Amino acid sequence: MSRKLFIAGNWKMNSSAVASVEVARGMASELGSVEAVDLAICPPFVYIPGVAEALKDSNIGVGAQNMYFEDNGAFTGEISARMLKDIGCRYVILGHSERRHVIGETDELINAKIIKALAGGLEVMFCVGELLDQRKSDRTTEVVTTQITAGLKNIGPEALLGITIAYEPVWAIGTGETATPDQAQETHAMIRALIGQLYGTELAESIRIQYGGSVKPGNAAELLGCPDVDGALVGGASMTVEDFSGIVNSVL
Ligand code: PGA
Repeated sequence: MSRKLFIAGNWKMNSSAVASVEVARGMASELGSVEAVDLAICPPFVYIPGVAEALKDSNIGVGAQNMYFEDNGAFTGEISARMLKDIGCRYVILGHSERRHVIGETDELINAKIIKALAGGLEVMFCVGELLDQRKSDRTTEVVTTQITAGLKNIGPEALLGITIAYEPVWAIGTGETATPDQAQETHAMIRALIGQLYGTELAESIRIQYGGSVKPGNAAELLGCPDVDGALVGGASMTVEDFSGIVNSVL
């Protein structure tokens, strides 16, 4: 089965009110009519409305980088799925390694967020990936299997359709070090087999698995050419029109 590629930009805690709109406008003019690949940009919460406005007549969707699993109430500083929908988000990134390892999010919390996001009509980019010492000690399969099994707990086959898995080896994020196409393909195939065990072959064949970790215009085509790599979650290289367009154009 051929799956449509999905390339998303994760701006992390970067940009400014002016720069976010400027870059989004540039992306709308460079990439706004691309149909062959699904595209999304995930700015910091506060810049979402400006970016959404700049992208509104384009094919580029808008996503958030996180959310909380309650609708509203006494949760100071948190943002709900309903609020994200309210300002034009289609997607949300959940379980990013920086939230797992810097902020301390657990598999259980990520699972609660995924369930809530899907119920609220958001599409989820669900991130998983091993640390360097886990890869070195041959624990990649074990770590990723635990993250996926726990993160997808109580999520039925229907809801799974709203999920893209993003495999991001932590040692490759923001380091300039990329997994080789063979390393990426091997783990993506393992993830697809695991989804097959949990949900059956048909859903395993249709779910998209993005690769993330130092994807750049120069390495995107090779990584995304792997049979089980269905797109990319791009950090640093999604911050400029030139780099993000370079990545997208390399696979068109
Ligand atoms: P990077 O980040 O492309 O800067 O390595 C990827 C990510 O964290 O999603």
